[in-house]
Amino acid sequence: MAEHNNRLMAARDLQMWFPVRRWGFIPAGAVRAVDGVSFELRRGEAVAVVGESGCGKSTLARTLLAIHTPTGGRITFEGRDMEQFTSREMRWYRRRVGYVQQDPYGALPPFMNVHRILREPLIVNGVRDRQEQEERIRDGLREVRLVPVEDFLDKFPHMLSGGQQQRLVIARAIILNPGLLIADEPVSMLDASVRVEILKLLRRIQDAHNLGVCYITHDLSTVRYFSHRIMVMYAGKLVEKAPVGGLLDDPCHPYTRALLRAIPDPEPENARTYRPVPGGEPPSLMNPPSGCRFHPRCEYAIAGLCEVEEPPHFVPRADHEVACWLFREE
Ligand SMILES: Nc1ncnc2c1ncn2[C@@H]1O[C@H](COP(=O)(O)OP(=O)(O)OP(=O)(O)O)[C@@H](O)[C@H]1O
Ligand SMILES: [Mg+2]
Repeated sequence: MAEHNNRLMAARDLQMWFPVRRWGFIPAGAVRAVDGVSFELRRGEAVAVVGESGCGKSTLARTLLAIHTPTGGRITFEGRDMEQFTSREMRWYRRRVGYVQQDPYGALPPFMNVHRILREPLIVNGVRDRQEQEERIRDGLREVRLVPVEDFLDKFPHMLSGGQQQRLVIARAIILNPGLLIADEPVSMLDASVRVEILKLLRRIQDAHNLGVCYITHDLSTVRYFSHRIMVMYAGKLVEKAPVGGLLDDPCHPYTRALLRAIPDPEPENARTYRPVPGGEPPSLMNPPSGCRFHPRCEYAIAGLCEVEEPPHFVPRADHEVACWLFREE
């Protein structure tokens, strides 16, 4: 089926629990940072993952990147099961998936110049021809608009601005022609003035290469511009998944609604409209609430149901899933 061929990545019931030990050795439970996450990502599709700080977004990213080995569930990429990867397939996977993280300076080796930083992944992945290396390095720099190229090749990361550093990180992430880019809060540490530029750049690269993108952010005001679909994460779980328009204009989950109300208004005179998600802090991931994890903060919680039983994913509209008992079909 065409639908199937279109699938780039899928996660089924993915789980990443970090064991916690008291005094460094006595087992004392686990932080359930990712706890039963399922989704699909199509080729060329940008999916945003949103949610409050600590809900497990970066852990999800790092599990998808095979930096963490999941404690449960499975990930498939281009039809192959990650658990079954040989070391050769793992190298292939690392070429196919690029990573852009929050802190560009921390992501760049301080004692390598730009040329060396971009040459390294080529060498590691068997591009030995000097001419080809030079061409790909220069094409990469042009693509992220670090031009004229000659001005940048000999620079070290600390000689670049934050925006330029992030451009370099992006060039490195795409130099091996990946099929998927995982961008974890790619602009949150940059000056407000360069954020839009970097998002535009990512958008252009995504279109030009038909890249799948997993865009992690807690800034809901940028997702409409950047993504096709949104997944809302709360306390280690996905609570709502939908196309961007449907989710932003008509959100279903009470948590998504609260999150949308919490977006600061860009107009300074309307700054009063900022409201944090009510109902206190997100729960502990070591000891999450029973039933629906959002029920202690939810103004619509149904007594006798929400605190007892975890809601399955209901489908109130085509392609729109929500894990909330309010949407159960009677
Ligand atoms: N390597 C680790 N070992 C133990 N616990 C971890 C590890 N990485 C993350 N955690 C815990 O997992 C939970 C989720 O953290 P994570 O960084 O994934 O959240 P996040 O949604 O990315 O938050 P933020 O928006 O602040 O970046 C937190 O409680 C965190 O302390
Ligand atoms: Mg994070």
